[in-house]
Amino acid sequence: MTAHPRAGLATLLLVAAVSAGVARAESDATIEGIEKYREALRDGNPAELFEAQGEELWKKPAGPKSVSLETCDLGMGPGVVAGAYAHLPRYFADTDKVQDAESRILTCMATLQGVDVKKYVDARWTSPEKDELVALATYVSGQSKGVKVAASATHPKERAMFDLGKRMFYFQGGPHDFSCATCHGQEGARIRLQDLPNIPTQKGAAAGWTSWPAYRVSSGQMWSMQWRLADCFRQQRFPEPIYGSDVTVALSMFMAATANGATMDTPGIKR
Ligand code: HEC
Repeated sequence: MTAHPRAGLATLLLVAAVSAGVARAESDATIEGIEKYREALRDGNPAELFEAQGEELWKKPAGPKSVSLETCDLGMGPGVVAGAYAHLPRYFADTDKVQDAESRILTCMATLQGVDVKKYVDARWTSPEKDELVALATYVSGQSKGVKVAASATHPKERAMFDLGKRMFYFQGGPHDFSCATCHGQEGARIRLQDLPNIPTQKGAAAGWTSWPAYRVSSGQMWSMQWRLADCFRQQRFPEPIYGSDVTVALSMFMAATANGATMDTPGIKR
């Protein structure tokens, strides 16, 4: 776990070299991807469709209690969605937990609608359940577009989550001894045409935090921050984290509080 940091870097460079090898095969697909990206930008961000779908889900009575999510408390009082995402993650007294938007939405589904959320937590990405959660998160985040990030990290549990997130960010492990910092801890790093933000800086955290959920043109999918993180755990060769679990919220707390003062630009659009 605590191997020489160079070892991790060497492996990374090796990975980069290997991907350069397959770059030619990929280049057609990449050019096509970039074309699609431009097209998408011209026609507007497809994320808007997911936002609209999320809004419909938010307002539609559902679950065993046949109630909508409209009275959900996202931290700014029951029913207040505008600006809420920009203040998350935060501590919630009713659950005695620090929650991000997605874990909070699960709480509201369980308490207001009587939904058995385990099914939603366990469902694979690209399942109808996860599609719903991603759409809901997209709607909620869209209601914070243009709002300044203000994750407080003042409550003791918020501070503890920030510290946990920071530790997790630098925690090296897995077959390549990677940490998040291996790929996201330096200026100007790139993998496959993708700029990798230097997350421990305010600018880098802002780049990563304020643009998710985002529509990914390369896969034609809408990804929430939980999905983004799950995929980076995969890239790190770590086991996939449980949806909405403390470790994912802690990483988000670390990123959000580091990004404080930046402006939310959600939903985003990515390569
Ligand atoms: C092996 C390299 C690697 C590791 C390790 C890694 N990531 Fe990533 N990460 C990437 C790549 C590549 C992308 C861009 C992916 C894409 O667009 O397809 C990315 C994207 C991101 C983004 C979005 C950035 C943006 O500008 O939108 C965030 C946030 C992020 N990662 C967080 C993390 C966190 C937190 C960890 C640790 C749990 C982590 N990553 C570990 C490679 C990595």
